[in-house]
Order: sequence, then C-alpha cells, then structure tokens
Amino acid sequence: MARYEIIGGAPLSGEVTVSGAKNAAVAILPATILVSGLCRIENVPNISDVRILLDILRGMGARVEYETENTVLIDCSMVSSTCPDGEKVKKMRASYYLMGALLGRHGKAHVALPGGCNFASRPIDQHIKGFWALGADVEETSEYVDLKPGENGLQGNTISLDVVSVGATVNIMLAAVLIPGQTIIENAAKEPHIVDLANFLNTMGAKISGAGTDTVKIRGVDSLNGGTYAIIPDQIEAGTYMAAAVATGGNVLVKNVIPRHMKSISIKLQEMGARILEYDDCIRVIAGGKLRSTTVKTRPYPGFPTDMQAQICVCMAMAGGVSRLTESVYETRFFGYISELESMGADIVVSGKTAIVTGKPKLYGATVTAKDLRAGAALIIAGLSAEGTTYVKDIHYVERGYENIIQKLTALGATIRRIED
Ligand code: UD1
Repeated sequence: MARYEIIGGAPLSGEVTVSGAKNAAVAILPATILVSGLCRIENVPNISDVRILLDILRGMGARVEYETENTVLIDCSMVSSTCPDGEKVKKMRASYYLMGALLGRHGKAHVALPGGCNFASRPIDQHIKGFWALGADVEETSEYVDLKPGENGLQGNTISLDVVSVGATVNIMLAAVLIPGQTIIENAAKEPHIVDLANFLNTMGAKISGAGTDTVKIRGVDSLNGGTYAIIPDQIEAGTYMAAAVATGGNVLVKNVIPRHMKSISIKLQEMGARILEYDDCIRVIAGGKLRSTTVKTRPYPGFPTDMQAQICVCMAMAGGVSRLTESVYETRFFGYISELESMGADIVVSGKTAIVTGKPKLYGATVTAKDLRAGAALIIAGLSAEGTTYVKDIHYVERGYENIIQKLTALGATIRRIED
C-alpha cells in the first residue's frame, strides 16, 4: 500500500508536459492484435493500465519491447491465443477491447469481464449488441464473454447505438476492421481517442471514415500492415493540471496539448475567473484572484467530460457563491469523492444528478481515500490547495492513469511525496 503526502498552500507555477492519452493508448494497444507486422507506437504513457495491457499481450504471444520510456514496439503476428489471462483482464476496464480485437482478427474470443474503476454500473450491452450485429454468437456469463462466428459467419452491418458509448464504438470498430463488407456505427461516440484509434488503424491500412462524427463507417480490408504511430496528448491529464493551476491560484504552462480538445474545460475555467491563453500546442492557465461560481453539466465529447467532474468540483468548492455540477453520463460518480472533500471542509449537497457546491474560503488537510482514478486526481488537487497536510490513500487508482505525477507536480512547486507503507 502507498499513499501521497501533500503539504498544501503553494500556488503551482512553471511548465508541465502532458503525456500520451490513456484512453487512446488502451484502445490502440489491443488494436495491434489486428496488425500483421511490427507496430512502433510513440507517446505511450507509462502508467499501470498500459503496463497491464502490454503484459496481457506478451502472455498471448506478442513480441513487446520498449524502445524508449514512451515508445513501444509490438508485433502480434504470432498471437494465436484468443483467451487472455483472466486475472490480468480483471485488473482494468479497457481490457474489454480485447474482445473486439480478437473477434476481428481470429473470429473468436474468450475474455473475462473487466475490472477497473467501478464508480458506476458500467454495462456492456451495446458492445454485445454490436458483436451480434456483426454475426457473432455471444455467450455472456457473470465471469466472461465468449465470442465465436455465428451460422452465417462475420459480416459488416449497420449498428445504431442506443447510448453514446466510447467503449462500444471502439469495440465495434476493432471487430469490424478485418471482416468483409461495410459496418456503419450510428450514434457513435466522438471523443478524441475514437479519432486517434481510427487514425492508428488507417495508418496501418484500415478504411475507416467519419471518426469524430456520430456516424463511423468501416470498410473491411484483408489485412493491416505494421507502421509507426504517435498517440495524441491526454485531454484529461491536461485538464487535471489546468484545474490544479486554477485551484491553487497558480500560473502554469501546460505543454503538449491539442487546445481544440480542451475547449469545454477552458471555457468553464474562464467562467470561474481564470485567464486561458492558447498557443499551437500548449495552454497557459493563470488563476485570476478569487474564483467565481459556475454551472457545469457533463456530456459526451465535445461536451464537458465526466472524467473532469471531480477536478472541477474542487475548484467550485473554493469559489465564491454556489455552483451547480450536473452529471449526465455516470450518475453515481459523485460518491467517489464528495464525502472526502467534505472531510476537508467542502460544502456539497447532492440532489439527484446535481451537486450543489457552496464555495468556502479554504479547504483543510485531512486523510482521504481515492475511490477511483479521477476522484484520486481531484483529492490531490484539493490537497495542493488546502491549508495543512493531506494524505491520499489508495493511490494505485491514480497511478493507473497519471504518468510521473509526483515528478510533474514537484516541478510545479508542489510539496508532494509518495510514502510506501
Ligand atoms: C470511457 C472512458 C472513461 C469515461 C467514459 C465516458 C475509456 C477507456 N474510458 O468509458 O474514462 O469516463 O468513456 O466518457 O475510454 N453504457 C451502456 N451500455 C454499454 C456501454 C455504455 O448503457 O454497453 C452507458 C454507460 O453506463 C454510461 C454511458 O453509456 O452511462 C457512457 O459509457 P461509455 O462511453 O461506454 O464509457 P466507457 O467506454 O466505459
């Protein structure tokens, strides 16, 4: 067990470089199963979710080598197993992308149900609906999903998602790339990592159009060849450092970002009084005195991301006036961190899908527990902004998604250290 000790109160100042996007990496790494040849993937974040996925691929017979800390060589040509290690699969959420990738490449898969952050009920009915529509026979139990070709084999089809789901959009794209015919995903998710996955697959020879719109079209090809691809910067990691700059009253240059991806976050931080200066691939965030209250509703991209709900809540907890924060993607997400923020002095009342946050002049250090990845990030921001010392426990959640967070925050002037208990 390890925890972070944070001595709060110092405004963050300086520069931070954002790593490759976790949610793109966890889709692109399983996608290498579809490729006959060597993939050289750059800007891969060194986080525990990535290490687990690489371990799973290795266990299935892939050749995986690190060229540098953030460049990985993967050759899945020799992978013949369609049954990844169940214990490892259960350690993270995005391991369910192995289902689509294995179905697409080998026509079958036997994959344990995933684990990861359980901040809400996270059904996969839309993924399964997609696999059925592509002609798979699906057996789903409380332990695993088993996929094999149905009577008429696998064939492209049109699938209209009942909810906008990132995971289902990715899984159907993976399953469809190598099967005959055209697949159309309607009501698809539009997140930057959907576009990044499509760009990766197209670089390797796939025929995918429309990624980033609500209709994605995939024309099946016979094979994908190896190549080099660089993962996009992480929108949520960037947003987390932006929120930390604002909450601590700091001035931070956030480097290696795509400012277009940050719009919904930048707008809200501006409404709260921050100055946001956009450049080609970086954003400067300057906290502007006393924060103002605001209203935020989370939505699928290009809306305000649910993965930034907890971090903006910390800013609201110290703003003047009453803010309203409405969650429309994962209703129960508030329960991952609100009681912890209350123990630091925040005043938050949850009413249905909305948290009503009455700003307080200060938060105070406390011992708090991270219950999921983004909740953990929010508690770190709260600790950095609070008076006194904060201990954040269960930081393995944070380490699933933030590369070198201690080093990055320390370089910004934070007093934070990891304590191994
Ligand atoms: C992805 C992100 C996660 C983010 C979430 C929403 C990855 C690896 N994870 O998660 O960080 O918080 O998007 O932006 O990219 N739903 C169903 N049935 C399904 C699938 C989803 O009802 O089969 C519902 C979910 O309960 C949720 C909504 O659809 O209410 C969106 O979920 P989805 O976009 O699928 O989230 P994930 O892909 O799990």
